[in-house]
Amino acid sequence: MILYINSCVRRASRTHRLAAALLERLGPYTEVTLARETLQGLTEETLAFRDACVAAGDFSDPMFRFARQFARADTIVISAPYWDFSFPALLKTYLENICVTGLTFRYTPEGRPEGLCRAGRLYYVTTAGGPYRPDFSYDQLRTLAQQYFGIPETHLVCAECLDMAGSDPEEILAAAIAAL
Ligand SMILES: Cc1cc2nc3c(=O)[nH]c(=O)nc-3n(C[C@H](O)[C@H](O)[C@H](O)COP(=O)(O)O)c2cc1C
Repeated sequence: MILYINSCVRRASRTHRLAAALLERLGPYTEVTLARETLQGLTEETLAFRDACVAAGDFSDPMFRFARQFARADTIVISAPYWDFSFPALLKTYLENICVTGLTFRYTPEGRPEGLCRAGRLYYVTTAGGPYRPDFSYDQLRTLAQQYFGIPETHLVCAECLDMAGSDPEEILAAAIAAL
């Protein structure tokens, strides 16, 4: 199963267009549109509840639905516009929800994280108004994929400088799609 995590916010999102072109090449997929989900960041109460579930090995609560789905996917595509050198808070909230010990990763007796996800590949698709810097977005996803989730292969698909004076965003987007 290909899982598409759509973190795009605008209806006319160019990042989603780029991701859609990639998905067309990859085949049928299941989409989670984060803006339509009721995602919540962890609080003292939900963190305590989650810790109790993890300790009991009981992941039946709906709060684990995203982590269960993520762990089962064969390929993962994440789209997110470049916002404030990073990505929308929606995606951070999703990541908080899927980093669950015992579901997407576990700790070895030596205390090292070990991946429990099936996926072999993760694509991070983004577009940026200016020059793109991966350090607070793609690099975080790549580190999570490789060090927590056990997803060995990650790819960045990027179209940058779309909003710069004199640039032609459609041309840049078409070139990024042609390079897929
Ligand atoms: C809230 C917000 C923050 C942004 N921050 C940055 C930024 O830090 N650097 C940058 O180059 N572009 C930034 N941009 C421009 C977007 O990265 C750019 O327009 C992108 O293509 C938007 O993707 P979309 O068409 O999928 O919404 C920002 C745009 C918004 C709305």
